[in-house]
Amino acid sequence: MRTRIFVSLTLVLATLALAACGGSPSPTAAPAATDAPAATTAPTAVAATPVKIAILAPLSGDVATFGESTKNGAEMAIAEWNDKGGVNGRPIETVVEDSQCSAEAAVSAANKVINQEGVKFIIGEVCSSASIPISGIAAPKGVVQISPTSTNVNVTVDENGVTKATIFRACFIDPFQGKVAAKFALDNLKAKTAAVLLDQGNDYVRGLAEVFIAEFEAGGGQIVVKETYTGEDTDFSAILTKVKDANPDILYLPDYYSTVNLIAGQAKEKGITAVLMGGDGWDSDKLDRAVVEGGYFTNHFSSDDTRPIVQDFVKKYEEKYGAKPDALAALAYDAATILLQAMKDSNADDPAQVAKAMEAGKFSVVSGDISYDSQHNPVKAAVVLKVEGGKFAYTATVAP
Ligand code: PHE
Repeated sequence: MRTRIFVSLTLVLATLALAACGGSPSPTAAPAATDAPAATTAPTAVAATPVKIAILAPLSGDVATFGESTKNGAEMAIAEWNDKGGVNGRPIETVVEDSQCSAEAAVSAANKVINQEGVKFIIGEVCSSASIPISGIAAPKGVVQISPTSTNVNVTVDENGVTKATIFRACFIDPFQGKVAAKFALDNLKAKTAAVLLDQGNDYVRGLAEVFIAEFEAGGGQIVVKETYTGEDTDFSAILTKVKDANPDILYLPDYYSTVNLIAGQAKEKGITAVLMGGDGWDSDKLDRAVVEGGYFTNHFSSDDTRPIVQDFVKKYEEKYGAKPDALAALAYDAATILLQAMKDSNADDPAQVAKAMEAGKFSVVSGDISYDSQHNPVKAAVVLKVEGGKFAYTATVAP
């Protein structure tokens, strides 16, 4: 899938260039001189070459709402820049690929946009298990990647703990998100015991579960059940029986909404009364509100935030797309803004220079005022939302 959203400005530029040359594009106006060289009368309109930005996101499959929001948020920011003349005098063209939140699809999408489209800037992916392999392709080629929402540590840092020079994210990381969840359970919900169910094969789920367990135990809580499942599982009754028998205060489900819907639905059928908790992966209009009612999740953004920059964004987004933005839309909007701001600050389209400008910059974006730490992670607060009466009610903000 490929979108060109800069057509109108390109046409305007071409028209202006023609006007500046004093020529007319109309063939009827060209003199039919037989012996005059054609080049003197044929104006050449050269519009600035577009700069290409790829958006890699899951537009189909289990977590398609993530991709839709991400595409919407990123395209909205890019359209705003294009309306103001693009970046560094060049129009911005987007190349959109469905990377399906999977390693395999993400690898082929990254190879396609880099090798066939000549893309040097990537916004994406959403899911850590897709962003990590994309970074493995982008980093060695010096391509800039900014993931709006991938929270696993290994997106920006390699296995030796070395920061990948051109890889960034717009969100906080799971060691922070997991700690916020554990502290909220212990301090606010006064929980003493928790059960944790996790998909061992998913970098995000596994990473977040590990942090939650370590922080909950460090704070004096007890993990009474820890069970794993796979991404293909649909029947969770065996592990939920263990949860039911242990009767914990909290059932932590750090997975994406599609899996949470299944597990929480089956937990409800079993009569499990633990308070459900999860992470940013719950943020979807397809989260089954009825089965997670009363639960809490950590997130990046609340559309109820009263700061003017947030309310302005919410209003513009609703006007354009007819729905309130979720965290994925907000962070994709921020990721595009950060990238374009860095391109402008460095007045460059060389990814190495743009990456330096990102490292050095300060960015006032919807999800907060951010600058980058040495591992290319923005330092910023998390919010805790409660699923209440079918809505996500803002409950707390927790600073790092
Ligand atoms: N943090 C998740 C991951 O790393 C992705 C995600 C972010 C999903 C925000 C929903 C909302 O895989």
